[in-house]
Amino acid sequence: MVSTVNDAASGSKVEKHAFSDRVTVRTILTRPDGGAGLAGQRVRVGGWVKTGREQGKGSFAFLEVNDGSCPANLQVIVDASVADLGQLVPTGTCVSVEGLLKNPPEGTKQKIELRVEKVIDVGTVDPAKYPIPKTKLTLEFLRDRIHFRPRTNTISAVARIRNALAYATHTFFQENGFLYIHTPIITTSDCEGAGEMFQVTTLISEAEKIEKELIKNPPPTEADVEAAKLVVKEKGEAVAKLKSEKARKEAISASVAELTKAKENLAKVEERSKLKPGIPQKDGKIDYLQDFFARQAFLTVSGQLQVETYACAVSNVYTFGPTFRAENSHTSRHLAEFWMVEPEIAFADLKDDMNCAEAYVKFLCQWLLDKCLDDMEFMAKNYDKSCIDRLRMVASTAFERISYTEAVDLLLEAVKEGKKFENNVEWGIDLASEHERYLTEVKFQKPVIVYNYPKGIKAFYMRVNDDLKTVAAMDVLVPKVGELIGGSQREERYDVIKSRIEEMGLPLEPYEWYLDLRRFGTVKHCGFGLGFERMILFATGIDNIRDVIPFPRYPGRADL
Ligand code: 4AD
Ligand code: MG
Repeated sequence: MVSTVNDAASGSKVEKHAFSDRVTVRTILTRPDGGAGLAGQRVRVGGWVKTGREQGKGSFAFLEVNDGSCPANLQVIVDASVADLGQLVPTGTCVSVEGLLKNPPEGTKQKIELRVEKVIDVGTVDPAKYPIPKTKLTLEFLRDRIHFRPRTNTISAVARIRNALAYATHTFFQENGFLYIHTPIITTSDCEGAGEMFQVTTLISEAEKIEKELIKNPPPTEADVEAAKLVVKEKGEAVAKLKSEKARKEAISASVAELTKAKENLAKVEERSKLKPGIPQKDGKIDYLQDFFARQAFLTVSGQLQVETYACAVSNVYTFGPTFRAENSHTSRHLAEFWMVEPEIAFADLKDDMNCAEAYVKFLCQWLLDKCLDDMEFMAKNYDKSCIDRLRMVASTAFERISYTEAVDLLLEAVKEGKKFENNVEWGIDLASEHERYLTEVKFQKPVIVYNYPKGIKAFYMRVNDDLKTVAAMDVLVPKVGELIGGSQREERYDVIKSRIEEMGLPLEPYEWYLDLRRFGTVKHCGFGLGFERMILFATGIDNIRDVIPFPRYPGRADL
C-alpha cells in the first residue's frame, strides 16, 4: 500500500515509500517537471550527504542528499536554528529530515529543494576517518573499500542498471512462455568438461578438527586398547562365575551391567584409536566416500545440463544464477564467480537459438533506454560517450551472422591487408578476444553471431554437423566486450553424444543421466548462456568486470 499526501494547491501527490515513512528522492526528482510541481508539500526524506557546505557565516547549510533511488541528489537546506550544522555537512553523513519542498530562486539548476524544519536522525561521520571522503575516486581504489563503494555515484548507478537488466531478463523470458528453473549451485557434473571447477568438500575442515582434537586429547595407544579388552574379559569371567555359582539375581544383574559398561568403553577406545590425522585415504587415493556427499562435488560452471532435464519435459525453460570458474584469468572480462542467464528451448534448432539470443539482447538494450536513461546518461558522461548510441544501434540493427569459416577468412584477409594480431589465425583456432573484437568493432561495427565452430574446440554436448568437422555452436560477439553469449543446438542423438564424450576422454559414468535424456524420448533442443556481467560492461562502457558485480571474486580476492 502506498500512502499519499495530497497537495490541494497543485493537485499533485507525493507518494511515500510503501514500507517506510519517507519519500524517496526518485519520487521527487524524476517527475517530468523535475519536482517543481511538488512545491509546498511537507515530506520526510532520508539519505547520505554527498557534499555539504555551511553558508552565510554558518547560519545555514546546503546538503546534497542521495538515497540511491536515482542518480540525482536532492538539495536540502538546513538553518543553524534547526540543527548542529557541523554534524550534518561531512560527506557520508546519514540524515533523516522533514520539511517543506520549495521552488529555489530563478536561475538555479534545481527545480525543487527541501527546507528542513526538523532533523529526525543523524548518522554522523568523522571526516578524518571516513574511508571514501572525496567524491572523485578511482574504481581500483574503491575495490579495496568494497563495503562502502555502493555509496558512490558509479557503483550505485551500476547497481540500478544491473537490477534493471535482471528484471528485463525475467520479463523477456516470462513473456515468451519460459519457466524459471533453479538449477543447483553444488553439482557433481562438469558441464563444460574443462575441469575448471571449485571443489566443495568438508574433508579438509574435518581433518583439521580431528587434528586439533587429537592434540588436545591424544588417541588411545595399543596398550590402552589391550587394557580395555582385559577389563571386558575380567567382567565377562565375573558374570560367568556368578552364574555358575547360582548367585542371587541382583548380584548377577549388577555384574552384567558392569560388563556392558566395559564393552561400551572398549568400543569407544577402539573407535578413537582408529582416528588418524589428515585426509582419509583408501588404496592410495582420497576416500570421497567419507566426504559430505559421499562423492566428489563442485560449484557449478553452468546450469545447462540440469536445466536440460526440464527442457526435455516442460519445453521452454531458463536458469539465472551464479556460476563459478576456477580459471586463473586476470583479465578485465573474467570473474571466478559470475552470473549467467541460460535459456533452453525444446523443438528448436541453431537458427531458433540465434533468433532468441538476438531478440533477448535487443530487448535488454531497449529496456535500459526506456527505464534507465538517467543512469545511462551518467555513464555516457563519465565512462563511455557512445554507450547510449550503442544501445540504440543494437536495439534496432539486425545482427550479422557468419559461419566460423567465414570469420576465419575475414581475419586472414585483414592480416593480408596488414592488420596485426597477437594470436595466429588459421582454421581450427579458438577465436581470441582480439579476433572477436576486430569482427564486431572494426569489420561489422555491430553485434556478430559466429556459428558452426570446429568440433575440436567446443564442448561435448554440441550437435555435430553433417560435415562431421563442425558443431552447431554459436557465439554472440558485441563491441567493447567480444563474447557475450555462447550457445548451441544440443546433440540429441544417443550414439553420437556417447562417442563424443568418449572421444573427449571424459568418463561416461557421471553423464549417464544426461545420456538417459537421449535414450528415452529425445528431442531436438538448443540453448545459450549470456554472461550477465559482460552484458553490463557492454551497456555501461565500464572497462573492468570487477566493477559491475557487487562482490567481485577473482584470483587472490574474495572480500566480505
Ligand atoms: O561460453 P560459455 O562457457 O557457455 C556455457 O557455459 C554454456 N553451458 C552456456 C549454455 O549453452 N547454456 O559461457 C557463457 C557466457 C560467455 O559467453 C561469457 O559471456 C560468460 O558466460 N562467461 C564469463 N563471464 C565472466 N567471467 C568468466 N570467467 C566467464 N566465463 C564465461
Ligand atoms: Mg564460450
